[in-house]
Amino acid sequence: MGHNQTRMATKIHFLQGDITDMAVDAIVNAANTDLLLGSGVAGAIRRKGGAAVERDCERRGPIPLGEAAVTTGGNLKAMYVIHAASMRLGGRTTAESLRLATRNSLWRAEEKAFKTIAFPAIGTGVAGFPMEECARIMLEEVLEHLKSRTSLEHIYFVLYDEAARRTFEETYRRLTSAERQNAS
Ligand code: APR
Repeated sequence: MGHNQTRMATKIHFLQGDITDMAVDAIVNAANTDLLLGSGVAGAIRRKGGAAVERDCERRGPIPLGEAAVTTGGNLKAMYVIHAASMRLGGRTTAESLRLATRNSLWRAEEKAFKTIAFPAIGTGVAGFPMEECARIMLEEVLEHLKSRTSLEHIYFVLYDEAARRTFEETYRRLTSAERQNAS
């Protein structure tokens, strides 16, 4: 990139759909620390990603709570899966573990120089974390991350239903308008 070219700002998108349909460098799995692929996002990744993903999870797990581990995407359209462990098996996601898992997922993407990544609403299914608080925490971490240099050009949030998509979009608007007010 030339010295006078400013980097394009990273674009953040809010979609409704199935995250396993995303053709991105990496999709983020709502994982547990054992990296066992259960139901929800992990179940869809297991079914569509196939045995290669499961074998990689067995090799890389367990990981500490709040950590994120990269595996192959197997048969998924996504090249890689970043497993964000926001809970222990049988446990629940907390604000702190969700924050850490989101932050570490973003750092795994930087280490691999990914340009595109897709997140689900981590913790809001089996792990029982409230959607609105999930949106606030995940988006706060993304906005903080984007203050430093990044390889990421597009960050997608893929929500399973319209209500969740709207919650994320509204939360993003609130966070970015608050930032603008602070800046002005
Ligand atoms: N695409 C996008 N979003 C999805 C999909 C999908 N294919 N399937 C489920 N979701 C949504 C859910 O509706 C929920 O809002 O993703 C959110 C996270 O739900 P879960 O996948 O249940 O994840 P989580 O609540 O973090 O629980 C993780 O569940 O499946 C096990 O192995 C997994 O132990 C881990 C735990």
